[in-house]
Amino acid sequence: MIKPHGADALIPLLVTDTAEHERLVAEATTLPSMLLSSAASANAVMLGGGYFTPLSGYMNVADALSVTQKMHTVDGLFWPVPVLNMTDDVSEIEGASRIALRDPNVDGEPVIAIMDVDAIEELSSQQKDTITEQVYGTLDSSHPGVAAFRAQGSHCVSGPIQVLNLSYFETEFSGTFQSAVEIRADIAARGWEKVVAFQTRNPMHLAHEELCRIAMERLEADGIVIHMLLGKLKAGDIPASVRDACIRKMVDLYFPANTVLVSGYGFDMLYAGPREAVLHAIFRQNMGATHLIVGRDHAGVGDFYGPFDAQDVFDQIPKGALDIEIFGADHTAWSRKLNKVVMMREAPDHEMSDYLTLSGTRLREMLGDGNVPPPELIRPEVAQILMDHYQTGTG
Ligand code: ADX
Repeated sequence: MIKPHGADALIPLLVTDTAEHERLVAEATTLPSMLLSSAASANAVMLGGGYFTPLSGYMNVADALSVTQKMHTVDGLFWPVPVLNMTDDVSEIEGASRIALRDPNVDGEPVIAIMDVDAIEELSSQQKDTITEQVYGTLDSSHPGVAAFRAQGSHCVSGPIQVLNLSYFETEFSGTFQSAVEIRADIAARGWEKVVAFQTRNPMHLAHEELCRIAMERLEADGIVIHMLLGKLKAGDIPASVRDACIRKMVDLYFPANTVLVSGYGFDMLYAGPREAVLHAIFRQNMGATHLIVGRDHAGVGDFYGPFDAQDVFDQIPKGALDIEIFGADHTAWSRKLNKVVMMREAPDHEMSDYLTLSGTRLREMLGDGNVPPPELIRPEVAQILMDHYQTGTG
């Protein structure tokens, strides 16, 4: 099976030994504590589940800047996005060497991890701007990832962590949420060798579905992991439970049995386009995928990135930095001429008017009004789930 990133075996930071876990839970009650941001809590979940192998905890300022500028830590590990624990208020933990980290996303704010504090450093506003601009490609606060990053404060609390639980993901998304350790085990049990990963934060439309099918066929893959984001999204994005239902319906009806693993991970969407695509590749390698699909405007938002920036970034990274390979896909859309979904670059005789496309806004309007979108865009059974969602007023 493909090796994890930068290590021979996964390094999940979740403490699974019962006695050790009990000891740490008891210890946590005696330690000074800090309330994490949602982003830092999501980082703990990714570290806990082995997705962020080989990291041992949160980065310090030197590593954050090095990763930002060179996509390498100070020690030379290839890594595209700083993994930070930032806060405004360090008064409760000043001088402490060991602290408890509390989870803002669970009622009662329970301890999610214990940390050995290596450093508490303040990022200057210039350093924060450098990170923002390099990672998100913009300083514009209308970018949801930039706004979330800016809201996290400027003190970086860094050091190794031991993770006590995986936040709300195991309970809220039981059956879908999996750690990288579990996905590796699942892939091994299925006997898959060539495994494609599909990143998604959307209910899957026909273009997504066909993209998965095309990638599997061309790569002659044994299976595909449809790996949905289960963490926080920007306002207006569709809740994970609805997306999960849509994806499962589509897989049940339209994919051969035992070719798809529907799974999810607990991370907040960064909307960081190319940089996030590289992070996606790292943690898909860690979960055992040999290929990652990167299509049009992968992990993008609005017009902040060019449609294929998230593919081009892979040409700029050092050779051998990753073992996982990218399946770069062109825009897929329904062709009225050919009566099927095609990749646009493979239909050179087509004009734009030969494709059936609909803006996201128009599609939401249709679903909200109870108008079934055309089956060339969305499977009717998936459309029904979305219509139910939009019409209950939660959409
Ligand atoms: S993402 O933020 O998770 O990337 P989304 O769930 O919409 O958003 O996309 C999942 C994957 O499908 C990404 O790799 C994206 O580039 C790709 N994709 C989505 N729609 C299309 C399309 N019409 N053509 C080509 N690729 C697409």
